[in-house]
Amino acid sequence: MWWRDAVIYQVYPRSFQDSDGDGLGDLPGIEQRLDHLTWLGVDALWLSPIYPSPMHDFGYDISDYKGIDPVFGSLDDFDSLVAAARARGLRVLLDVVPCHSSIEHPWFSEHPDWYIWREGPNNWLSAFGGSAWSPLNGRYYLHSFYPEQPDLDWRNEEVIAAMQDALRFWIDRGAAGYRVDAIDRLLKDPELRDDPPATGEPFGLPLSDEELKLALTHSRNAPDTPKALARIREAVGDHLLVGEVYLPSAKWQPYLEHLDVAFAFELLHARWDASLLRAAIEATTRRPGAAWVLSNHDFGRLVTRFGAENARSAALMLLTLPGPAFLYQGDEIGLADGPGGERVYDRAGRDRFRHPMQWDGSPNGGFTTGDPWLRAVEPERVNVEAQRDDPRSTLSLVRDLLALRRVLGDGLELLEAAPGVLAYVRGEHTIAVNTTADERPAPLDGEVVLETDPGALRGRTLAPHSGAITMGLPG
Ligand code: NOJ
Repeated sequence: MWWRDAVIYQVYPRSFQDSDGDGLGDLPGIEQRLDHLTWLGVDALWLSPIYPSPMHDFGYDISDYKGIDPVFGSLDDFDSLVAAARARGLRVLLDVVPCHSSIEHPWFSEHPDWYIWREGPNNWLSAFGGSAWSPLNGRYYLHSFYPEQPDLDWRNEEVIAAMQDALRFWIDRGAAGYRVDAIDRLLKDPELRDDPPATGEPFGLPLSDEELKLALTHSRNAPDTPKALARIREAVGDHLLVGEVYLPSAKWQPYLEHLDVAFAFELLHARWDASLLRAAIEATTRRPGAAWVLSNHDFGRLVTRFGAENARSAALMLLTLPGPAFLYQGDEIGLADGPGGERVYDRAGRDRFRHPMQWDGSPNGGFTTGDPWLRAVEPERVNVEAQRDDPRSTLSLVRDLLALRRVLGDGLELLEAAPGVLAYVRGEHTIAVNTTADERPAPLDGEVVLETDPGALRGRTLAPHSGAITMGLPG
């Protein structure tokens, strides 16, 4: 249970550190920067996909589940990274994409029966918009995401065997577990029936306008999904499985029979408003199994999602909730989203969440000596080097939070507080954030052990857009 209160740092390999000057991050680059992670105090790193891929979805379209894409390096580089991480006490989690392969995976032509076909499309929708079916050779194949990502048929034993083989391969090479992609799309209705019209019952998480018209009961989350998850569990033993299950936490139970934790999407999608945050935390903590996350390569960074003025409080909240937390690379320095496409699910739409990590104030932020695939975002102002020795920097705040969370007690008690203030107790510490632009009273007593900004807490009043932690319980 090393992961019970772990902080897992998300590395987006394409954008972390380039070691060979091609403008794209790689595994040797990640290894060069491991000391940043140990200095920061995280427990593990999760690598977004590093496998061979035509990169239609930057690695979430895998063409070989047991290799490394040459852009990122080689299997030797992977072994070296895992050994270097281990030597520093860091674990390495991988990303597995069981729902679909790349259309360029040899399986697609050699084993068409491993995929899902229909004579004509039904009304199922791709997560990225439009029909989930594309024509090929007189039939239609299912793709829950881009057309280059055909869905595998998890009711086919050969598919399961091939995937178990891949899962074991990386565990044997030292992976500490997996973040499992798109579980809600793993199994669908075996008869491929149309999704019925929406019933009006809220889904509990944001959906597209198209999706809102349907009940989405057949295109995803088939009742036998846990059986497939059991086969994933069978392959990985007791290594960590973190599920990307796009469902509100009230529906997690069957999935958590085989996964350790699931990403807490209700909190990720809550606006920066104390009452909404509180409601999401309350709902999610009704049962165990939350992995907290507020930002990643699909949704963008803290500074942009919640506003620069709230990003430090967001980090404070993320890192003081009970259970594992995921920290996206760049959030520790307050990196903002960069330029990118307008519509999120257009090809370049999520580029803006994926601009390279910034290590120093040079024009490419120390990411590459070549031409970066995406340019740096104000590197002269936002970079690791400039913030490392500044006790007031976001980087120092995040490091202090990581140290402090180790002494937070078990459990979570949400407190009554003034409107606009989220407050809770962890053991002997009380934590509060003011999500508003005004001063607000906060139920904080005792010694101040951490503030988002110096002087954030004056007496029992929190400055606008600030947060604090005290040692001692509210009187
Ligand atoms: C979720 C991943 O985080 C996202 O980047 C990807 O596009 C989809 N799953 C499809 O694999």
